[in-house]
This record gives sequence, structure tokens and C-alpha cells, in this order.
Amino acid sequence: MTTDTLDSTATATGEELLAWREEFPILAETTYLINNSLGAMPRAVRGDLAAYADAWEQRGVRAWHEGWWESAVEVGDLLAPLLGVAPGNVSMHQNASVAAGLFFSCFDYPAERNRIVYTELNFPSIMYLAENERRRGAEVVVVPSDDGIGVPVERLLAAIDERTRLVPISHTYFKSAYVQDAAAVARRCREVGAILLLDVYQSTGAVPLALEQWGVDAAVGGSVKWLCGGPGAGYLWVDPKLAATLRPALTGWQADEEPFSFRPGPIHYAEGAWRFLTGTPNVPALHACAAGYRIVAGIGPAICQRSYEVGPEFPQPFIAQAESNRDFFCPASRAGHFMFDLKGYVARRLAAADIKNVQVLPCDTCAEDTRFFSYRRACQRGEPDYGRGLSVICLEP
Ligand SMILES: Cc1ncc(COP(=O)(O)O)c(C=O)c1O
Repeated sequence: MTTDTLDSTATATGEELLAWREEFPILAETTYLINNSLGAMPRAVRGDLAAYADAWEQRGVRAWHEGWWESAVEVGDLLAPLLGVAPGNVSMHQNASVAAGLFFSCFDYPAERNRIVYTELNFPSIMYLAENERRRGAEVVVVPSDDGIGVPVERLLAAIDERTRLVPISHTYFKSAYVQDAAAVARRCREVGAILLLDVYQSTGAVPLALEQWGVDAAVGGSVKWLCGGPGAGYLWVDPKLAATLRPALTGWQADEEPFSFRPGPIHYAEGAWRFLTGTPNVPALHACAAGYRIVAGIGPAICQRSYEVGPEFPQPFIAQAESNRDFFCPASRAGHFMFDLKGYVARRLAAADIKNVQVLPCDTCAEDTRFFSYRRACQRGEPDYGRGLSVICLEP
């Protein structure tokens, strides 16, 4: 099977892309550029909130056993592909500040490893939490910025050493959109045995994240901005190897492995994301945020299979990866050559990574010469160069 059938409906108007506007009703009347304060509400939220009200009204207490109780972990799983992590380790909280405070509560500060290193461009909540750890014996090191835009990564790395317990820093700075090199910071933290807490609030849904691959220990964020998830839905991801060793001081009965035993005495922490829960979950907010999280990936604009002829040597590395990748090659009119379904291949890779909601844009960058530059087309036509694309947002007067 290939997805070229999808592509054969290609039009020059990009209407599939424009169709996404209908998913955000406010766009019908408004030019909406303020995602950083409150992302536009996805159309599906209304129905999801109605389902919450229906369950409460008609199922009453039974609603706890019909999805509400698990919602702080199950909704967290929807974020896993966006964060670049395996499911099962994202817990939902009221906001990013609470999620970060909960993570801080897992640590203490013995004299030989009592430093917290953060940058002066952190969001205030994370700074306030870090500064308050002085009361519990932490020594705080603030790495300065020269220009208020970024912090040179070498400077940050130099501040992290064997005395460092925690490095709570922003990935994308809220004032400047500067993106810190998280993989480099994670590497340094591993070298010296420090723990990296990455604030990805300004990144998730806006820039690609690969937290596991980068070696990040934990991350926090929220849903108000680029995730279009509304207020009341912050999240905490903790690497499972680290999570198993942590005992959050800020906790509650939902984090116990047998919450309905109502055991007296110390908590027996549950596994995975459950370990980081507290009390009764924030059920209405968890209904409101899920629709935004489900809008995960789009493929394209890209070249379509009918335009993408490849040589005899091209399919082999793909087939060596998986025999089923033969699906993405069909014979070309030139003997020994093939037509490659790039978008289908990418869609299957995303599906294998558990990214289920993928929209394949039907446009063909090679064939549509009034809309897209194409190196392939330029070569086929013997043109000297092929131009460069630029996306611009403009406000009409
Ligand atoms: C980078 C960053 N971190 C944390 C926060 C605070 O989030 P919350 O209000 O969910 O605690 C914000 C809010 O703007 C932010 O931009």
C-alpha cells in the first residue's frame, strides 16, 4: 500500500492546510497571533467539556471508574510523542509551577552537592522555586546573560560541576525565543552527576523535542500556549530510571501504590507517572486540554511519489531497514528506476513512534511550480538555481 492515492487529489490551493483553520473557531472572525497568552481553542474542546458534564450529571460517582481517576496519566501519555519520550511517565498537574515545585521536593542538599545552577533568563516561577531552596540548604548559582536574549552554552556548562545537584533551566526562553542547547547541558549534567530539569513550556508544540535522546532527566511545561490546551493542565515528565529513585515530598494519596487502602504512615510510592501525582485530579482541565494535544503532526509540503523518481541503488537501504519498506517503491517508467513515496514512508515512521494523528498534505512541491521551489524540478529543466522559500505572517490593514 502507498499513500500516493492521497496525493493524487493534490490541488494548487492548499485547502487541506487551510482546513485546519476550521479546527479553531476563533479564526473565522479574528486574526489570532496571541498563542503565547492563550492558544486558540480547538473546536473539539466544546464536545469534550460537554462529555465531562454529561458524565458528572448522568454517571455521578461512577465517572471515577470510567476514566476520571486515570486521566492525569492517560492525558499525559498524549504528550509523550511531542516531548520525544516513551508513554507512562508524564503526570498532569495544575500548572508548570506546581509541576516544578513537586520535582524540587524530591531533592535535598548535602554540603558536598548543594548547588542549583540556573540562568537569569528562566521564567520567574522556576527562579522563585530555586531561590526558595536556599532555605533547605541549597547554594544558588545564577548564570548571567550578556544581551537578555540568550546565555552562551559554554558559560552554562562551566557553571555545572560536581557540586551541582540541580540544573532547572528553560529550553526556549520566554522573553526572546532563544533555544538553549539541551543535549549539551544534559551531557554535562551526566558527566558530573547533576540533574537537569528542563522547562519546555515555550518549546512543546512549537519546536521539535527529543528529551530521551538528548539525555534530559526531567521536564515541565503547561498547555496555555502553543499546545492550545487551555489553563489548568501543567505536566511533569521524569526519566523512568531517575523516577524510580525519587520520593517527592510534595505528594498525596493518588501517588500511593494502593490509594484505596487508605494506609496510615508513610506513603508507598507507585511506579512511573503515578508516583508524581498528588490528590484528586483536575478533571475538567484534563478534558479541555486533550484536543490540542491530539493535533500532533503534519507531513509536507513535500514531493509526491509521482514526481519522485529514484535510481536502482536507492531502495536497498530502506529495505535493509525493514522488508515492509518495499511498499514505498513502485516501478518507474524508466527500467530499473523506482518512484518513492516519501510522505508514506514518513507517515509510517511516525505511526511506529506512536504518533497517530498525522495529516499528510497533498501538495507536490516538484509539480506545483507556481507555489513551491524545487531542486529536482530545477535540475529537470536545466535551470541554474531554484530559489529559497520563506514563510511570512503579515497583518492586513
Ligand atoms: C517558560 C515558562 N515556564 C513557566 C511558566 C509558568 O507556567 P504556569 O503558569 O503553568 O506555572 C511560563 C508561563 O508563561 C513560561 O513561559
